[in-house]
Amino acid sequence: MVKKPIYVTQSSLAPLEEYMELLKGVWERGILTHNGPLVQQLEGDISTKLGINNFVAVSNGTIAIQMAIKALELKGEIITTPFTWIATVSAIKWEGCTPVFCDIDPETLNIDASKIENLITDKTVAIIPVHVFGNACDVESIEAIARRHNLKVIYDAAHAIGSTFKGQSLLNWGDISATSLHATKLLNTAEGGGCITDSYELNEKLKRIRFFGHDNQKNIVEDGFNGKLTEIHAALGIANMKYYDRVLEDRKEKYIYYKNSLSNFSKISFQEIKFGECNYSYFPVIFETEEALLITEKKLNELHIFPRRYFYPSVNTYTDIVEYQSTPISENISKRILCLPLYLQLKKEEIDLIIEVILSA
Ligand SMILES: Cc1ncc(COP(=O)(O)O)c(C=O)c1O
Repeated sequence: MVKKPIYVTQSSLAPLEEYMELLKGVWERGILTHNGPLVQQLEGDISTKLGINNFVAVSNGTIAIQMAIKALELKGEIITTPFTWIATVSAIKWEGCTPVFCDIDPETLNIDASKIENLITDKTVAIIPVHVFGNACDVESIEAIARRHNLKVIYDAAHAIGSTFKGQSLLNWGDISATSLHATKLLNTAEGGGCITDSYELNEKLKRIRFFGHDNQKNIVEDGFNGKLTEIHAALGIANMKYYDRVLEDRKEKYIYYKNSLSNFSKISFQEIKFGECNYSYFPVIFETEEALLITEKKLNELHIFPRRYFYPSVNTYTDIVEYQSTPISENISKRILCLPLYLQLKKEEIDLIIEVILSA
């Protein structure tokens, strides 16, 4: 049994003194929010680090998706994946659109691009795929479909900071990418997120939407709301940014270690990385049956190790919130998938123990 419980993840945090140093500046300036200097610095730092044009920092990843929908003025059906966190779908619904579920590829666990076109109707306005666990979607096929049918694409890139496709940030794909800087993400501001787009006009519009719809003269010119990130959160992001490369490297090392140790074991399988380079931010394993997963989870829990059933259940089955549409692959995989602990502070002995329990269970 481990002394302290091991959860699926732990936030990566810069040394407290470095964060406090940035906070001193906030106290001196007395500026806590409203696109302050630290928010602007964080946006610049993230853009430079990832090689993206712009990053509009917002208060969380869910708002980032909503703002993307709002900026593109979408009204109608949006094709998305059921194998995601509820936030993808709640953002669609909060913007008055209707989610239409497209089943997933059983290997990549991302939306199956070959099934999208069958779901397009005269009400379809956009596709919102998710780069699940940082694993790139088939972005080229999705772009080709969107072009053929004149649809917008918003990527839910909540997991995708640090992932690349053909050597460039995955966040460069789509009309807009929406990411998360939540406490559990590779780079975090406790709560936070961002919108990324190549379009100058959309970028400016997103900034107005974030700030109640104000233009530079304080006229209300958009149907906006409050999506602002605070200076306190931005300071944490800037402090954490210094350790981002280390965090990224560490995830990859541990991911490979887990995978090498478990890959001879025929009773579990892994998410396939077919497109681009993943950020390895999660380590999901897929069991042969839900029963096998439950037995393993129980044994781990007895040792105070708490992996997470993520994503479970498949979002199309939340019938209080959405109309059920059958997506058998997502429904089946979501019952059999478990994300194992993976974070900077996780020790090799702890990973060895987790592997041992899985193999013996
Ligand atoms: C796939 C996905 N989309 C959207 C979100 C929402 O992000 P946030 O928690 O920053 O609102 C999450 C949260 O983890 C997520 O996993």
